[in-house]
Amino acid sequence: MGGTLARWCAESGHDVAVTSRHPERLHFEDEASVQVLSIPQAATFGDVVIFSPNWSSAFEALEQTRGLLADKVIIDVTNPDIPDDISGLEALMDRAHEGHWAKAFNTVPADVLSRRRGHDPLMTEFVCTDDRDARQAAAQIIRDLGFAPVYAGGAHAALLTETGGPLQMREVDVKDATDVLAEAMTIRPL
Ligand SMILES: NC(=O)c1ccc[n+]([C@@H]2O[C@H](COP(=O)([O-])OP(=O)(O)OC[C@H]3O[C@@H](n4cnc5c(N)ncnc54)[C@H](OP(=O)(O)O)[C@@H]3O)[C@@H](O)[C@H]2O)c1
Repeated sequence: MGGTLARWCAESGHDVAVTSRHPERLHFEDEASVQVLSIPQAATFGDVVIFSPNWSSAFEALEQTRGLLADKVIIDVTNPDIPDDISGLEALMDRAHEGHWAKAFNTVPADVLSRRRGHDPLMTEFVCTDDRDARQAAAQIIRDLGFAPVYAGGAHAALLTETGGPLQMREVDVKDATDVLAEAMTIRPL
């Protein structure tokens, strides 16, 4: 997921760096537009970090970037393995205590995003955050990548979009977003 979003961000004109625990194994066709860096280098590279490890290593990834994300907008695309009373986004924020966090790009598989990207009717990309800077930055990237940002609520509302939530695996045209969101809130009151 991270690699797919990195390619699309580069195609949209953003300067992009990617990382993993094994950056030497990462290969991008166009290395001029997507740089491969170490974890600390990538964490400090840009204004926005797309946080996309598997859930089982998400907290390890936070530890590896501790102190480096303070001024960054962090777009969290992860999905917890099992639902909880707090959202995965809230769990990460509880641990990180820094950065401007938003949840997005976590509801549908990459192949659905790929099929819908930039096509009418635009597909909704739900954004959850309590942070104005994060909301604006996430909305801009969502638009840049060819989707329609729709604000679904604060960090707690990410429960709607994550594993077990009523918006998980929902492919929503932007014209239906308000109705689908209202329905989701009745299914899973927050
Ligand atoms: N795949 C989708 O279509 C999709 C859609 C929506 C949301 N998501 C969510 O996105 C997340 C990633 O899914 P995925 O399918 O892309 O998984 P994936 O193919 O396993 O990719 C996870 C990436 O995270 C890297 N990584 C793991 N631990 C790390 C750490 N501590 N520091 C830095 N990098 C680390 C891994 O590289 P190394 O092992 O080399 O570190 C790997 O490149 C999951 O939470 C998933 O729920 C996925």
